[in-house]
Amino acid sequence: MNQTTFIQQLPKVELHLHIEGTLEPEMMFELAQRNQIALPFNTPEAVRAAYQFSNLQSFLDTYYQGARVLIHEQDFYDLTWAYLLRCQADNVIHTEIFFDPQTHTERGIAFDTVLNGIDRALRDGREQLGISSHLIMCFLRHLDEDSAFDTLRMVLPHKDKIVAVGLDSSELGHPPEKFERVFQEAIGHGFLTVAHAGEEGPVENIHNSLELLSISRIDHGVRCVDDSALVEKLAQRRVPLTVCPLSNTKLKVFDHMDRHNIVELLRRNVCVTINSDDPAYFGGYMTDNFQAVANSHALTPQELAQFTLNAIEASFIDDAHKQRLT
Ligand code: HPA
Ligand code: ZN
Repeated sequence: MNQTTFIQQLPKVELHLHIEGTLEPEMMFELAQRNQIALPFNTPEAVRAAYQFSNLQSFLDTYYQGARVLIHEQDFYDLTWAYLLRCQADNVIHTEIFFDPQTHTERGIAFDTVLNGIDRALRDGREQLGISSHLIMCFLRHLDEDSAFDTLRMVLPHKDKIVAVGLDSSELGHPPEKFERVFQEAIGHGFLTVAHAGEEGPVENIHNSLELLSISRIDHGVRCVDDSALVEKLAQRRVPLTVCPLSNTKLKVFDHMDRHNIVELLRRNVCVTINSDDPAYFGGYMTDNFQAVANSHALTPQELAQFTLNAIEASFIDDAHKQRLT
């Protein structure tokens, strides 16, 4: 079997995916028309051509603009369902999805509208596609602590639908310390925790996310290589990193895929996983991300499969079900 077919057929588990980042330009136009929202572009091709990013912030500005077309529960359902069909095509058997409630509540959309649309699609995905899933609620780190506390309060009646809380948006200037109290309260309510750290921000953000936010895994985390003792610790404790190769090259975290450190980290026994982050904006879903890494780094079939084994290990799937998958 050639490597392309091997990658296509390899079962995959996704652990770092922002549902708002799966909004393809075609669906953006469809929803804009349905909801009578003006877009500053004439065609989906023009939208795609505008996706040239110089750093994380330049992407986030575009990404929050795009999310304005999402208004009704059915919009969130349609968005999530389209992503699940991509999972099916890529042989993604389990996915853990982030959503950003504040992106929507800040513009007057009810929290329940967002959550119910996503949750209903995930339930249909389990029943009709056999794709298991978990949902992770992220706080936007550029907003203040009070707003995060308000958001945490909104999710409490829906605790059964959410496995963990996370932290995303602009890392520079918004360190994990800012959210220590919110995260500790979330833990008190029984949520697991994750956080974006060491994507653009310094290695201290990884240390502090582990210590102050008690995270189960690090989203991105690629800057860990700036501290070799930390890499040793992550490897020894098998603290997972949810790495997003195409995202990292599009946002200039690495100049080129052949400079990406994911393969080095794999060989240093860090529990690294491959994920798509915001596939509609970064040019690829799970298979594309695996393929992009394999095109720039010589990998054996065992190493490619290890990314999936790592993702099963790093997932929030319960232990009995994990055993059945490996
Ligand atoms: N980093 C931070 N915030 C985000 C990202 C990311 O890669 N994607 C969507 N929100
Ligand atoms: Zn992300």
